[in-house]
Amino acid sequence: MIAAPMEILRRKKDLRTRVTAWHMAGLTVGMVPTMGALHHGHLSLVREIQKYVDKVVVSIFVNPKQFGPNEDFDKYPRQEAEDIKKLTEGKVDLLYAPQPEEIYPDGFLTNVSVTRITEGLCAAKRPGHFDGVTTVVTKLLLQCLPDVALFGEKDFQQYTVLKQLTKDLDIPTRVICGKLIRDPDGLATSSRNVYLSPDERRIALEIPKTLKQVVQEAAEGILPLQQVLDKAKRHLMDCGFREVQYLEIRQSDDLAPVTGKITAPSRVLVAAVVGATRLIDNMPIPNVPAQPKTTS
Ligand code: PAF
Repeated sequence: MIAAPMEILRRKKDLRTRVTAWHMAGLTVGMVPTMGALHHGHLSLVREIQKYVDKVVVSIFVNPKQFGPNEDFDKYPRQEAEDIKKLTEGKVDLLYAPQPEEIYPDGFLTNVSVTRITEGLCAAKRPGHFDGVTTVVTKLLLQCLPDVALFGEKDFQQYTVLKQLTKDLDIPTRVICGKLIRDPDGLATSSRNVYLSPDERRIALEIPKTLKQVVQEAAEGILPLQQVLDKAKRHLMDCGFREVQYLEIRQSDDLAPVTGKITAPSRVLVAAVVGATRLIDNMPIPNVPAQPKTTS
């Protein structure tokens, strides 16, 4: 069966007109902001948000402000035609794919910044990254004004930061967390996985295995947490990772560091580099009070 064509808009004024018309007709609108190179993790986010709203907007914008000078902005995979096909098959109602000038016109001077929870973890090695994310997401949400926006659990710090952002700035959009999706071999889905050689992918698979081990040992509570984490870091380095940027346990609601006993819902979070590719992942630690809600 041929899927119905999806509307594609590139201008914020057209996006606003369409979303306003939906709202006037009593329909609810959800948004999934992305940087494209869509994989089955993104498509699962689309399926999740479809359960909550009548109309779904996906945005594709590779945001230069969230890449550092030595990061992969230029080589970040861009494949709009394939993305359009996948979104059409996924019954997305509207693709918003603005040109850079639509987001950052000449004379753009504003920076949106969330404090404290943007320190450490991914921010430690990527200074300015979260300001880039919070600035672009503020713009995308204000351009679209969706009722709900969904961000993936894999970027758990990003999800926490964006929840805080919309609350602090009174942006009338509910931020929800979409379940982390893994490939059948256990690797968290990511647009950057295409960079991995077969050897690097084999090494990368140690991330989910190691996280599971940390979760188990942390929940058992026999070894001190720092010892569990040090052992896991050594294991990753022994397996061939070039760098383990962080491997930490943080409280799920506010990302406060957990050093002693786990007394609140917590997660183990990791970023590690294999070859030239930086990978992130995280897992909740069970046997403590209820975990943060995902939409599944
Ligand atoms: O997670 C991403 O793909 C990006 O950080 C986002 C939220 C689309 C902002 O550019």
